Parts: sequence; structure tokens; C-alpha cells
Amino acid sequence: MFEHIDAYAGDPILTLNENFAKDSRDHKVNLSIGIYYDDHGRLPVMQAVREAEGQLLAELGPKPYLPMAGFAHYRDAVQSLVFGDDSAARTEGRIATVQTLGGSGALKVGADFIKRYFAGSRVWVSDPTWENHRFIFERAGFEVNAYPYYDESSGGLKFEEMLSAIDALPARSVVLLHACCHNPTGVDLNDAQWVELIEVIRKRDLLPFIDMAYQGFGAGIDADAFAIRELVRQNVPALVANSFSKNFSLYGERCGGLSVICESPDVAARVLGQLTSAVRANYSNPPTHGAKIVARVLTTPALRQSWQQELASMCRRIMRMRAEIHERLRGKVPDTMLARYLEQRGMFTYTGLSADQVDTLRERHGVYLIRSGRMCVAALNDNNVATAAQAIARVISQAGD
Ligand code: LMR
Repeated sequence: MFEHIDAYAGDPILTLNENFAKDSRDHKVNLSIGIYYDDHGRLPVMQAVREAEGQLLAELGPKPYLPMAGFAHYRDAVQSLVFGDDSAARTEGRIATVQTLGGSGALKVGADFIKRYFAGSRVWVSDPTWENHRFIFERAGFEVNAYPYYDESSGGLKFEEMLSAIDALPARSVVLLHACCHNPTGVDLNDAQWVELIEVIRKRDLLPFIDMAYQGFGAGIDADAFAIRELVRQNVPALVANSFSKNFSLYGERCGGLSVICESPDVAARVLGQLTSAVRANYSNPPTHGAKIVARVLTTPALRQSWQQELASMCRRIMRMRAEIHERLRGKVPDTMLARYLEQRGMFTYTGLSADQVDTLRERHGVYLIRSGRMCVAALNDNNVATAAQAIARVISQAGD
């Protein structure tokens, strides 16, 4: 019956992370998966999460199914964080939001919804993008293409090329965009570029799908959502996936949301119904625990303040580690490769290392990066930064030999 099943080649991020766990070398360093580790290399439990979880355990009760669309307080908290409390679309009831299984779940529910109602549309993702974007949309039945994005020679953005490619797309094409802390490159649009891009999207009647997996890891909680707020300001219908995996350090709880900005409350009600139907067809209803934690933190002023402060300190630590590796690599890697550690932002830096160099780093030095050359700078700490920098310097000097 199953003889014809192919072997799974593995996932470029998650399988590598599983292989890292099996690596028995003491000095190994994991800079592959997008996870924030603290100064001691530990996955933090944020103080606000700890307190909210304590409160919830004290209130233990029965565990019914959540509604298909998710926990109502959580969905409301998602909207307020992603769109802002006083967002016009939110107060007018024009946003449909469902709770999802992390950001991936939001992308999948959104992809199913679009496939059903925009069956002829094609999807456009940035070149490069998070490996799983293409996979999710292709598995949902879409043809996926790429628009120009990253400029390898400068380590920055090819904005004009990106804009003109998007300006040539057929109406109702789906354009996948990263709100902030672009994964894998760490290169974002600035506010003026977002305004210009969104004007093109509106003019050409395109359907933007914004993925915001790192809110709070770039310029701040509200500043990171600039593109989303601008879509609302320019009255552009859009889908927005968000995740609390990173900014709440709640990876395994699978807390995400999918919001659709609609033209009217009446349309939003129907869209919500169809998102709910996509949830039912995939997994019926989402889990309770993580959603209760997030809702409790976001709606309790003291916990919310504590969460925001801790998130800001995580960002400061990432900046410190960016400066640290930059300093250690100074004079040891070409200047164009060096500047990226400071210029790119969020959890990732696109190092410019080739797949072969990444393989050498892993095999000879036990330092793990994704084969695209993406480094998770949020996993650097005072104990591993020297090992990582020395290994990179050695690999680069060997390439020059
Ligand atoms: C990553 O990009 O490393 C993370 O978002 C984890 C994942 O699921 O790929």
C-alpha cells in the first residue's frame, strides 16, 4: 500500500534543528532556527507569561472546546496589538480575526480561504523568503513566484526593482510581504517605501498578505506594524498573519492570528464565517492554554507593561550581540559582509556565506546556520560568540586560500 511513498528530504530549518539536538559535540552552537535564547543560552519564560500562567493554573477548570474562531478575548487582543486600539477599521468592525496555530496556521488558513475565493490568483513572495512560505502556498494549490527583494551586493533592498515588478502584476495577485524583521534577510522597507508600495498595491487592485512574526523585534511594537496601519489608512483590503511564538517566547503553544481587513462590517462578518469554515476543515478549533496566557498578559496593564519591557530588553540584547560579532569579525571578513551585522535587523542576518561554507561551519566547527547563509543573531551570547566568530573567520580565510 505504501511502497510508493517517497522519503522526506527534511525541512531546511526544523530538520537541521533536530539534527543539532543529536550532535554530541560540547562546543556546538545553534544559530539556525529563529528562536530567541537568553544570555545563558536558555529559552526564556517571560516574567509576564510566568505570572499569567500562575494565575490561570490557580483558576483551573473544565476544558471545553474553544469556538472554531478561537478565544474571544484573545482575538480582540490580537486586533488591538496588530492594528492599534484606536484603529478605524477595528472600531468600525471591518476586521475579521481568527485564532490560529501560530503564524504557519494563519498562513495556511489564509491560503485555503484565498484559494477558495480567488482561485485564479497567483502568489508572489520576496526573493528570498522564509522557506515555508512557498511550501504552504504550493500545498494549498497555488503557483508561487518571486519578486526581487534582496540585493546581495549591498546587503540591502532592491526597492525600485521590487516596486516595478509588483506594479506589473495582474489584479488580485496575492503579494506576500513581511511586516518587519524580514526572514531570512533582516532587510525591511522604510516607512516612505511602504507608503509608496501600498499605493501601487491599491492602484493595481492586488491582495496583500502580510506576515508579521516578529512584532516588537524591530523598531518597536507599533512601529513594526507600520505597513498594516498604512494599509488601513489607504483603505486597502488585506490579510495579516501574526504570531506570538517569538515575542512571547511561546513557541510550542502555537499562538497566532489571522486578520482580514474588509470593506464593511457586513463583508467582515461573511469573511469571518469563511475563515471559521477553513479552521473547521483543517483542525476544528484551536487550543486553549497559550491563547489564555496571551490574552491575560495583553489585557492586564501591569502584565502588559512587564511584557513590553522584557521584550525591549531582549531587543537590546540582540543589538549588543550584533555589535559583538561585528567587532570580532572586523578585519577578518570583507567589509560588505561585515556591515550587515549592524545594518540588518530583527533576529536574522543574511551573512553572505555560501551553502558550502555553511556546511563546513557545521561539519568542522559545530556552528549551525541555515544553508541560505541566514544566521539567527538572537541565539548569540557571551559564551558562544567567540566560537561562532572564529569559525566564520576560518571558513572565510580558507575560501580565500
Ligand atoms: C525560523 O524561520 O527559523 C522560524 O520561524 C521557525 C520555523 O518554523 O521555521
